Order: sequence, then C-alpha cells, then structure tokens
Amino acid sequence: MSSVTTTHGPHLPGDPAVIVARRYEDVVVGNEISRHNLLSRLSHWAVAITFVLAMLTGMPIWTPVFGWMAYLFGGLTVCRLLHPWLGVAFVLFSIERFFQWVSDMQMAEPDVDWFRQRATKKGRAGVDDSRVGKYNGGQKLYFWAVSLGCLGFLPSGLVMWFPEYVSPIVRQLAYLLHDFTFICFGASLVIHIFLSTAAEPGTFVSMSRGTVTRAWARLHHPRWYQDVLAGARSREVVKDEQVRKP
Ligand code: HEM
Repeated sequence: MSSVTTTHGPHLPGDPAVIVARRYEDVVVGNEISRHNLLSRLSHWAVAITFVLAMLTGMPIWTPVFGWMAYLFGGLTVCRLLHPWLGVAFVLFSIERFFQWVSDMQMAEPDVDWFRQRATKKGRAGVDDSRVGKYNGGQKLYFWAVSLGCLGFLPSGLVMWFPEYVSPIVRQLAYLLHDFTFICFGASLVIHIFLSTAAEPGTFVSMSRGTVTRAWARLHHPRWYQDVLAGARSREVVKDEQVRKP
C-alpha cells in the first residue's frame, strides 16, 4: 500500500480544475492535473455503455443460462432486435475513440521494459516506473486489444445478422469468432474495471471529473508528470480568463 494520498477531497461547483479539464488535457491546476478532456471522457463512456448494453442483450441470446437477463429489456425478441444495433453503435464509438487516443498509445522501449519488470520482479518494491508516460505498457496493450476485438466483433456480427448471404461454414466460423472475442473482452473488462477503481484509488475520477491529483500522477505516471510540469505536453496555453469563464 502506498502512503501517498491519491484520492480527491471535496470540491466546489465551478472548480477551476474541472473547468480546465473540459477542454484541455495535461495542464496543472493547483494540486490537480487535467488528464481526460470532456470529449475524451464522453467517447470512453459511449464505448463503455454501448458495450455493456450489447453484452447484456447478447448473453441471453447466447445461452439459456443467461435467459433471465432478457427480462431487463422486455424479453428475448427485444434483445434480438436491440443487440446488433448496440453492437454497431459500440464499434462506431470505438472507431472514434481509436483515432482520438492512438497517438498516445504507441508502444516504445519503456513500455517493453514495463512488462519485463513485471515479469521478472516480485511485487512493486523493486520496480522502477520512472519512465512511465501518460499510459503504461499494460494500458497500451489493453487499448490495442480492444481495438483488435472490434475487428473480431464487426465482421462476425454482420455474418450472424445476415446469415442468408454466407455459406454454413462461414456462419460457423463467425459464431466461433464472436464468442471467442466476447469471452476475451469480458475477462479483460473485469480486470480493467478493477484496475481503474479499487486497485488504484484516484484513477476513476480521471474519467469522471477529468482530473487526477499530482500525487497520483507522480506515483503512477512519473514521466507524464514531469512532462506536464515542464509544459512539454500542453497543446494550448490556458489563459486565466478561460479558467474563470465556465
Ligand atoms: C464499464 C466500466 C468501465 C470503467 C469503470 C472504466 C474506467 C476507466 C478509467 C478510469 C480509465 C482511465 C485510466 C487512466 O486515465 O489512467 C479508463 C481508460 C480506458 N478504458 Fe475504460 N472503463 C470501463 C469500461 C471500458 C470499456 C467497456 C472499454 C472498451 C471496450 C474501455 C476501454 C478503455 C481504454 C482502452 C482505456 C485507456 C487505456 C487504459 O487506461 O486502460 N473501458 N477506463
């Protein structure tokens, strides 16, 4: 357990850090740093909400074991109707999010080192994370895995939606690919939610308020913290009056 406080205290409405984080990322405001601007957060939550809804409508279609879930949406017929459209919405939002985040997700040598250290060292004590930028190797891998996952969902989902246009063998392969992608996605999502909430306090607010504390940044993403302090990442200068005007 770290002795650094990384969670947020109470905040007043019209908090300058929140106002800055609506438009700007990587800017220091008092004790906080803006991490995800509003567009980035909306994009993430659109992906998350459409995925969860597609999952909940898809599971009762998949197997009768989850049949009871259909009642949440008014029955299996409604699920069959909603599921493909939710899937299409999920893929479209994912494509938008891909282009928004891809520049920060390029794997580099420090990311390989991040994996190497976790594979070879026991516990967090001996690990040197000083070169971890805005995202660590694990987060980048997750980004690429979910992007690849969309490539599994879309063609297989389209084949299952319009089975009359393809041969039986293609149909079988589509079912396999869709189920395999879903199982990988579901398992990795459980880990993602755990790491973004309980495992690393102070992370969830980066996707709600848009900000993190300096202590959180120093602890989890030290190179990002240094770059932000040096002004190396700010794409625009935030003027005082822009902070005051909501
Ligand atoms: C439903 C519950 C979810 C929660 C609570 C959650 C939470 C978060 C948080 C707090 C971050 C920011 C991490 C940071 O700034 O360091 C994040 C990033 C991210 N989320 Fe989610 N998320 C959820 C669902 C999803 C889903 C369904 C997907 C994709 C299908 C997804 C994909 C990502 C990706 C690719 C990132 C950037 C890499 C990373 O930080 O791991 N998230 N999420």
